[in-house]
Amino acid sequence: MDDPSSHPEQFPTDAAQDVERQRLFRLIEELVKWENVNNEEVLGRARAEILKATDGNPPPLLDPFAGGGSIPLEAQRLGLEAHASDLNPVAVLINKALIEIPPKFAGRPPLLSQVGGLGDTARDLAYRLYTICERKGWAQEALPYNGLVVAWSEVGRLAVEKAKETTRRERLFEV
Ligand SMILES: C[S@@+](CC[C@H](N)C(=O)[O-])C[C@H]1O[C@@H](n2cnc3c(N)ncnc32)[C@H](O)[C@@H]1O
Repeated sequence: MDDPSSHPEQFPTDAAQDVERQRLFRLIEELVKWENVNNEEVLGRARAEILKATDGNPPPLLDPFAGGGSIPLEAQRLGLEAHASDLNPVAVLINKALIEIPPKFAGRPPLLSQVGGLGDTARDLAYRLYTICERKGWAQEALPYNGLVVAWSEVGRLAVEKAKETTRRERLFEV
C-alpha cells in the first residue's frame, strides 16, 4: 500500500495526505491489538483497504524464509494468496499445518459429526493402540493415543456444537 503522498491527485496537500496517513495508521493500530485477533469487522476493513489499493487485484505473497509462518499466516488472514518455503523441514511442516491444510477444511462441518458411529470405532482403536504401546513399553508412542482418548468427549462435544453453528449459518441463506 502506497503512502498517500504517492497519490497527489487524490490527496493534493500535505494536510490531506496527513489525514489519510493517520486514518491508515489508526487501522493498523486496531489490527495489531491482541483482542482484535478474530475481529472480522476490523479484518474486513483491512482487507477492503488492500483491495482498494490494488484495484481489486492484490498480489500473492511469497515468504521464502517463512520459519514459524507468521508472515504467510497474516497475509492469508488479510485475504492474500500466500506461499511459503524454508530450508528447515520442521518449518515446512509448521507452515503446512498453519496455512496450507486449514483452508481446505474451512467452512466444512466437523468430520466427527458426519461419521456417526465410526467416531466411536476410532476412539476404541486409539485406546487399543495405547494399551499395545504401554504393554510394549513404548511410552512416547503411547502418549498421543492416550491424549486422543482423554480428549475424545471434548472433541465430540465441539463437533456437535460446530455442526449446529454450520446449520445456523446455512439457514441464514435459506429463502
Ligand atoms: C528468522 S526465521 C524466519 C522467521 C519468520 N519470519 C517468522 O515470523 O516466524 C529465518 C528462517 O529462514 C530459514 N532459512 C535460512 N536460510 C535459508 C535458505 N537458504 N533457504 C531457505 N530458508 C532458509 C531458517 O530455517 C529460518 O526458519
